[in-house]
Amino acid sequence: MNQAKHIAIIMDGNGRWAELQGKKRVKGHEVGAKVVKEITTYCSNSAEVERLTLYAFSTENWKRPRLEVEFLMKLLNSYLKNELPVYLENNVRFESIGDTRAFSKTLQKTITMVKEKTAHCDGLVQSLALNYGAQDEILRAMNRLKSEEDDITIEMLSNTLDCKHDVDILIRTGGDHRLSNFLLWQSAYAELFFTDTLWPDFTPKELDKIIKKFTKIERRFGGLK
Ligand code: FPP
Repeated sequence: MNQAKHIAIIMDGNGRWAELQGKKRVKGHEVGAKVVKEITTYCSNSAEVERLTLYAFSTENWKRPRLEVEFLMKLLNSYLKNELPVYLENNVRFESIGDTRAFSKTLQKTITMVKEKTAHCDGLVQSLALNYGAQDEILRAMNRLKSEEDDITIEMLSNTLDCKHDVDILIRTGGDHRLSNFLLWQSAYAELFFTDTLWPDFTPKELDKIIKKFTKIERRFGGLK
């Protein structure tokens, strides 16, 4: 039976969720952060999920209005600070992928602090994609490898990427059917799930249904049964 070791989620639909309620888009992000907590806690209690990678801020998200970007930065900072006891309580290790050098020093410090304080946790790994884009990730890895004398192999590139783990289940909420530059290399054989549910409405129950469906899929990885 398949094991959902690595789940990756494109958390889309926050803005629309808020607009549907007659609220400002950023309210959707605020509620979205609560769902991040619920889904993380759910995965930390699952015997099979080892890693949860969440697309929190893409390399393209800088194009959003300045106030929305600023709100997201503040939200990330307060989320990480407030959640530290919850990470520790649930034995969750916090990691990130993406180029966080573009963030403010304050946010970079918080990211480093939460990584350090949770480094000993050996339960679920929650990895947030922060200023992340798969093309940028691959390019940074290639640039690191370019001085190697030998030809670059799949293993060499895989081991140089920010995320070194193949994705088992990739979920996108919010109704669109695209990957938006998320974990393109690591999702080569991921099972893809698209749901119309907007991220603030996504529940552990829906995740559980997806995991159950995944369990029954025959994965051949290009081979035969
Ligand atoms: C996409 O919804 C969501 C984002 C660009 C940001 C994701 C952020 C969160 C879930 C909350 C903060 C995260 C953490 C980890 C604290 P959208 O704004 O594109 O929605 P839309 O498609 O309806 O406009």
